[in-house]
Parts: sequence; C-alpha cells; structure tokens
Amino acid sequence: MNVIQSRFYAWIVVLVLIWGGSEANPVGPRRRHLDVHHKKPLQTFRPYNVAHRGSSGQIPEETTRAIEEGADFIEADIVASKDGYLICFHDVTLDATTDIANHTEFANRKRTYEVERVNMTGFFVVDFTLEELKSLRVKQRYDFRDQQFNWEYQIITFDEYILIALDANRVVGIYPEIKNPVFINEHVSHSYTWQTLKDNLLYLRNVEAFYSELHNMTV
Ligand SMILES: *[C@@H]1O[C@H](CO)[C@@H](O)[C@H](O)[C@H]1NC(C)=O
Ligand SMILES: *[C@@H]1O[C@H](CO)[C@@H](O)[C@H](O)[C@H]1NC(C)=O
Repeated sequence: MNVIQSRFYAWIVVLVLIWGGSEANPVGPRRRHLDVHHKKPLQTFRPYNVAHRGSSGQIPEETTRAIEEGADFIEADIVASKDGYLICFHDVTLDATTDIANHTEFANRKRTYEVERVNMTGFFVVDFTLEELKSLRVKQRYDFRDQQFNWEYQIITFDEYILIALDANRVVGIYPEIKNPVFINEHVSHSYTWQTLKDNLLYLRNVEAFYSELHNMTV
C-alpha cells in the first residue's frame, strides 16, 4: 500500500464568504450567502473534537450530523464519481456500506481493478455517475454500531459536506482526506474533476494550492 499517497490530509478552516451553485451539478447546492460575522468562533479552551467520518458511531459514516453533537471539525474522505464530482466516501468500492447489491440495474458494473498494487473486485465509485450514486442508500460498516439509520441516507458530495459546516451557527472546520488519488486519477478525467470543483462552489482560500498539490501526487 502506498500509505503516503493515500493519506494526504488537508485542513481548510471555513471562514470565508462562499458563493455556490451550478446548473451543471444535478444535486448541487443553490447559491447562498453566509454571514460569518455572527458565528461563534472555533473554541480554543480544550483540544479540538474531530468527528471521524461524520458521526459514524451512530449514523452511517460520511453522512454527518456531528455538528449538532458539538464537533469542532468534521472529517470526511473524498473520492470522485465517473463524471468527476467529488463525493464523501471512504472506499473505492461501494460494496461494504451501500445497497448497491440490491440494485439489479447495476449488476453488470462489477469490475476487478488494481488499486495500490492489490487486485480488488466490486462496484467501483469511478464507474458510476453522481446521479447514479445518489440513487443508492448507505448503511453502517460495522455490525456493532447502531443500525437504525441504515438505508435512510444518501452519499453526499464534497459541496454538501462543506455546506453542512457552513450552515452551523458557529465556525466549524472541515478535515477532508483524499482517498486513493492515484487510482482515482487513472479512472476519472482530471480536467473535469478540477474544473467542476472550481465551477461549483469552492473559492476557499486554500483550494488552489490544495488541489494542485493533489494533482502533483499522481506522478
Ligand atoms: C438490500 O437487501 C438486503 C438483503 O436482501 C436487505 O436486508 C436490505 O434491507 C435491502 N436494502 C434496501 C435498501 O432495500
Ligand atoms: C491483477 O490481475 C491481473 C490480471 O489477472 C494481473 O495481470 C496482475 O498482475 C494482478 N496484479 C496484482 C498486483 O496481483
């Protein structure tokens, strides 16, 4: 496993005014205006509380309501759809945490690909458009976790994740982790991914540096 490449972390504290929305994104956010001046600042009197994969102990991972529970940062993993949208999802395959197996219309999409020098078989996110991914429902990864919210939530996009943080009445940080960038870049058109990212939402201060760095890692 190439641990260095798959564990690229970036921090973006959301403090800026953002305009979002694009007709190109079928499930993208509407334009909105955020008044950051009336938000409570990030607390500094104790260590930060970072919600790993959202609120994954209670509800299926990467579908977060962690802010309501007091998280200072929400962590999420980022991969890309076939049509270049960034989504919050941990695995490159959909098998472990979605109802993909119930969708007979996708039965012929099972593939075997080499992912970081290991052959893996399953339903890969890079073979599904965002609209198709949105037709799936997610479930808990582990049996010992609360199962009552299985099948209630959809996969969320990177845009939606940022908006969850922005909609809080206090400053909440996001903590995105890029998963398997080499594999994703082999299967998803770069220009489309980077372009939609820019077009859609993100004029966050660090975003250019963040993604050009990610891009360089594909060499
Ligand atoms: C998918 O199929 C499994 C096994 O048959 C079933 O337990 C589950 O409820 C189904 N999920 C959905 C979302 O229909
Ligand atoms: C993956 O499978 C292909 C086709 O069978 C094979 O050529 C390749 O060497 C395998 N890769 C690994 C890392 O096992």
